[in-house]
Amino acid sequence: MVNCYGIQLSNWHPSATLPQALGTIWGYAMLDTQLDNFKLRQVFWENEDADTIVSEIVDPDILVCSCYVWNWPTTYEVIKQIKSKFPNCLIVIGGPEPKYSVEWMQQHTDIDILIPYYGEQVFTNVLREYNDKKEYNSLDGVITQEVYNKSLPKIDYDAIPSPYLNGFFDDLVLNKREQTKGVRCVFESNRGCPYSCVFCDIGAKAYQKVKKFDLARIEKELEWIVTNNINVVDVADANFGIFDRDEEIVDTLIKLKKEYNWKGRFLPTWSKARGDRVLRLAKKVVHNGLDTIFGLSLQSLNQSTLDAVKRTNAFNLDEMSTIVQDMNADGVDVYTELIFPMPGDTLDNFKNGIYDLLDMPTTFNKFQINQLSQLTNTEFNSDVYNSMYKMKWADIKGFTRHYYGVGAKDTVAIGTKDMSVDEVFEGLFFAKCIVIPFYFYGIIRHFADTLHKEGVTTRSELLKQIEHSLADEKWYIDFKAQMKQHYMDAINGEREFGFAMLSDPQDFFGEFAVAHRAYIENSIHTFLKKQFPQHSDLISYDQMSLWTGTAETTVVNEYMFSDTRQVSHDDYYKELYVIGRFDDRWMKKSIRRIEC
Ligand SMILES: C[S@@+](CC[C@H](N)C(=O)[O-])C[C@H]1O[C@@H](n2cnc3c(N)ncnc32)[C@H](O)[C@@H]1O
Ligand code: SF4
Repeated sequence: MVNCYGIQLSNWHPSATLPQALGTIWGYAMLDTQLDNFKLRQVFWENEDADTIVSEIVDPDILVCSCYVWNWPTTYEVIKQIKSKFPNCLIVIGGPEPKYSVEWMQQHTDIDILIPYYGEQVFTNVLREYNDKKEYNSLDGVITQEVYNKSLPKIDYDAIPSPYLNGFFDDLVLNKREQTKGVRCVFESNRGCPYSCVFCDIGAKAYQKVKKFDLARIEKELEWIVTNNINVVDVADANFGIFDRDEEIVDTLIKLKKEYNWKGRFLPTWSKARGDRVLRLAKKVVHNGLDTIFGLSLQSLNQSTLDAVKRTNAFNLDEMSTIVQDMNADGVDVYTELIFPMPGDTLDNFKNGIYDLLDMPTTFNKFQINQLSQLTNTEFNSDVYNSMYKMKWADIKGFTRHYYGVGAKDTVAIGTKDMSVDEVFEGLFFAKCIVIPFYFYGIIRHFADTLHKEGVTTRSELLKQIEHSLADEKWYIDFKAQMKQHYMDAINGEREFGFAMLSDPQDFFGEFAVAHRAYIENSIHTFLKKQFPQHSDLISYDQMSLWTGTAETTVVNEYMFSDTRQVSHDDYYKELYVIGRFDDRWMKKSIRRIEC
């Protein structure tokens, strides 16, 4: 018997995500009866630390690991220890984190084989070669210390067994560790994306053809998901709603939800294609409690940026406004995301884009800014692209709040040809500490919407006035300086980003911080009353909206999906919280318990 071990560590805690990639490559390889001598002894997929994993691996012949940004430090630590304890163990890795190059392999000499892109067929061929001459350099689609064989062998997609249905996940769920509270899964009804945005892993040519899995198999997978009470279904399809049959998928899940009283969530990334299907489907998903919001991400509001990153949006802001209006009329909130900073962005065009977004007749209900990450195998990691746009990058630890584990680093953009490091900070501060907390988290939303509708002042003008009025407040000046210091320290590798929201008084980009302080110090209240005396009734309503309305809903959603916080699953649904920075500390304040 050949002893094999698999590692695909999850980014969530105390829940964990079933290891989809390992499940499919292993299942595919095991279709070959010549490979019956390989035995998968154990799969590590929860949040085990490196020492625990190493201590549980006995006489390994092959270690296979799926690697992404959040699990790389722990996975690589295991690889190094295993190679040192068992030098003959063949180390095979895949996933988006390793750079697909021989140079990268030569900087990581403990690794024998790197499999880029979809791994099913190459991994099968590696096991066949293990049984044969062990001459891996001759295999198509492998990267070793010596070669990168770029031609990819064909995968028989219809043959890939489902890890939900062949028992692979049954064992894992049955034997999960005590500390793993809930189980998430990655649901894949198709693979690939026809678009090629340069910031995205899936924009690579190898992913351009979209392959569908059989509908009957998908429906059985959904039944497994529901009957095994999986908490969250992360939908891996890059463009959910792109196919007619996606409606059948949603209908099946709704039927199953009712039949089994399933309380989990189904979280798709929606197709940008024009047409009514996506909107109709998104309404169905939200109305039936599968998700809470509909997202259509624009990534940038600046055409030259969109061109530079090869991104095509199907809708402009006017069209988006009509969509938001239509969705809101049916009780569905809509959010969008932007990535910043990207080539072509300047501080002015970035801020003006956000002002335009705020002044849409009906603007989004939620809005998120993602600081550009350099994903390893995207064009942003190529010398040509970087020198063309003079991108500046920094490795930042603790950048993404829900990464669980020690030392995960993101490489994020901190400057471009057209933006200095200081300007990027200004843009992030503007979006994350002014626009989002004041408007999108509900603090002045009702006030701003009413004045906008009545033609008194636009939302953007109001925001500009608030920003201006805050600029002279001592606490605001100190706060911003503290934020900037934290940011600069993080860029220089001297501290983590600090997303331990409830315990770290130095927390950076606490998105409620400015707005809450502004209320607590009464600055905004006083300012608004002085500027708009005839609307003081709205202002007192607005003061209340610190504790009610959108802010409340947003926070409860945060709690439901960010299980880094030790709140029991039932409490997610029973209690509403608001989080704010009071005095020098983050606090979680319970607003009220809800019946459900
Ligand atoms: C999983 S991606 C899905 C994107 C979706 N397919 C689309 O076309 O809008 C979810 C979000 O991650 C963000 N994102 C993707 N690549 C990123 C990168 N390199 N840096 C920062 N954020 C990124 C984008 O804002 C995106 O909306
Ligand atoms: S961002 Fe979305 S549309 Fe663009 S390549 Fe990635 S998955 Fe496809």
